[in-house]
Amino acid sequence: MRDLWQDWADGSVGAGVSDALRDLAGKHFVLGMTGGIAAYKAAELTRRLQDHGATVQVVMTEAATHFMTPVTMQALSQRPVFVSQWDERVPNNMAHIDLSRAASAILVVPASADFMAKLVHGRADDLLSTLCLARECPLLIAPAMNRQMWSNPATQRNVAQLRSDGVILLGPTAGDQACGEVGAGRMLEAHEILEDTIGHFQPKILQDKRVLITAGGTFEPIDPVRGITNRSSGKMGYAVARAAHEAGARVTLVSGPCALATPRGVTRLDVETAAQMFARVMDYVSHAEIFISVAAVSDWRVVNPRTEKIKKAGPDDLPPPLQFEANIDILAAVAASAEAPYCVGFAAETSNLDEYAQAKRLRKGIPLIVGNLAQHAMGDDSSELVIYDEQGATRIARADKLTLARQLVAQIAARLSA
Ligand SMILES: Cc1cc2nc3c(=O)[nH]c(=O)nc-3n(C[C@H](O)[C@H](O)[C@H](O)COP(=O)(O)O)c2cc1C
Repeated sequence: MRDLWQDWADGSVGAGVSDALRDLAGKHFVLGMTGGIAAYKAAELTRRLQDHGATVQVVMTEAATHFMTPVTMQALSQRPVFVSQWDERVPNNMAHIDLSRAASAILVVPASADFMAKLVHGRADDLLSTLCLARECPLLIAPAMNRQMWSNPATQRNVAQLRSDGVILLGPTAGDQACGEVGAGRMLEAHEILEDTIGHFQPKILQDKRVLITAGGTFEPIDPVRGITNRSSGKMGYAVARAAHEAGARVTLVSGPCALATPRGVTRLDVETAAQMFARVMDYVSHAEIFISVAAVSDWRVVNPRTEKIKKAGPDDLPPPLQFEANIDILAAVAASAEAPYCVGFAAETSNLDEYAQAKRLRKGIPLIVGNLAQHAMGDDSSELVIYDEQGATRIARADKLTLARQLVAQIAARLSA
């Protein structure tokens, strides 16, 4: 009979993946859980890691089993959960070594104050701490604790030591705590830990580069309640910001009005009009090495927008006349500035993409422009891109916008390093 343990060890049992983005395909995680209320978030993380193509082996401290049962975690991970070093299910009794050998990383979610102290001292008195000590893979931990426990000098010393030992800390953040207090020490949400984990595995091809990105549409007021905007959703710009951050860049995102969540680790500055976007870009551009203009900036604005709502008096009233004036071309202005960063533009056209995009690139005086068809790009979750430079056109096949953004970042990084 085939050894069931071997099936688990080589991943032939229980991947449980969906058709969602598979950016963790082929990755295997040891998910360590320690004793804290935030342990419930590890259940959702397990599902989300699997959604992205990973397999998950749960290992719990004895304290963690008081907060979540191994049965729940086994059902979610579709693998047996390990708690004890003395577990006889591992044929050679070497769970403390074997479990982490195939792992892409050990994630400790949540990481208790006690467990962090153990890691600092290289303690190995239970299965999870022994696994961490014997690991060959990266160790990422998501601390979760009461604000006083977090700010205690002992914990802060441990945090500094863990960082200098190469352990990657995800969070914590500040906010409401299970104990009823408010402050720092609250664990990140599962989707945030997932985003950081995915980012950890992306190649650091823009390490420490400062990247300024614009995203979304602009809104030009007519009066306090009306305005002119466009169909840009911000999805492509936000995806580019996330991809640049994942690549190791320090990213500032100047965003028109949009409801998307800010990518992890990205500094976001909200603006409304093209003039505000221009001012924000100019504030930051001298510090940037790369400028990526994804925003759909209004070419025109209404002259003298009213400060009072325009009233409609009767059904036969003529519509109010609107007069327009040109907005500043932000991308052309940045490209023309002294010590301009490496500039990348976007062109959304409804036809003649090759011709219009190349013409726009030359007109703006930029090395790279990314073309897409507006009817396929705006608002959709996927698109296809064509990158134009002086060499010609490079096509990037239809994909979700994050996948496209990662490929675009790779194209930019390759050109910069050439
Ligand atoms: C209800 C309850 C909640 C707790 N929450 C936390 C917590 O959020 N963070 C933490 O570091 N410790 C917390 N503790 C204390 C840990 O469970 C305790 O330090 C335990 O020894 C940790 O063991 P472990 O690190 O082996 O998992 C809590 C204890 C109790 C009883």
